[in-house]
Amino acid sequence: LMVPDFLEREVFCCGPTPYMTAVKRLLEAAGFDMARYHEESFGATPAEARADAVEQAEQAADAPEVDLADLHQVEFIASGKSIRVAPGETVHAAAAKLGLLIPKACGMGICGTCKVLKLGGEVEMDHNGGITEEDEAEGYILSCCSVPKGDVRIEF
Ligand code: FES
Repeated sequence: LMVPDFLEREVFCCGPTPYMTAVKRLLEAAGFDMARYHEESFGATPAEARADAVEQAEQAADAPEVDLADLHQVEFIASGKSIRVAPGETVHAAAAKLGLLIPKACGMGICGTCKVLKLGGEVEMDHNGGITEEDEAEGYILSCCSVPKGDVRIEF
């Protein structure tokens, strides 16, 4: 409806993989010239990064027990679930441990897919431009790159 002449246009696509797959299928089904289809992909995790992650996980497994006082409570209001997380764990990781699947794509604060509303508490958000100042002012955070600084309450 918005782009009735899309068959004559250049298409640039970016988003979660299932979304981009769906767009590609729609275009192919409509007879679009796929030579004019372009997509941005964050790609697979580089081998070195994967090796680093394994090493960090092994070090974490060897780490001494965390003092209970250092654990922060993350409460997901709409889901009625909560969990205590160790220092450095993100809000997204906390949700995943509870089986709550907050949508996520880049995992590095760029795309904004994992945005959730924070109802209370403070987080350290280390994003890469994936959220506007307006959203931040309204209390939104990017869950993939937000680490609780104390107990927090999330609308999800
Ligand atoms: S998943 Fe992209 S900003 Fe969090």
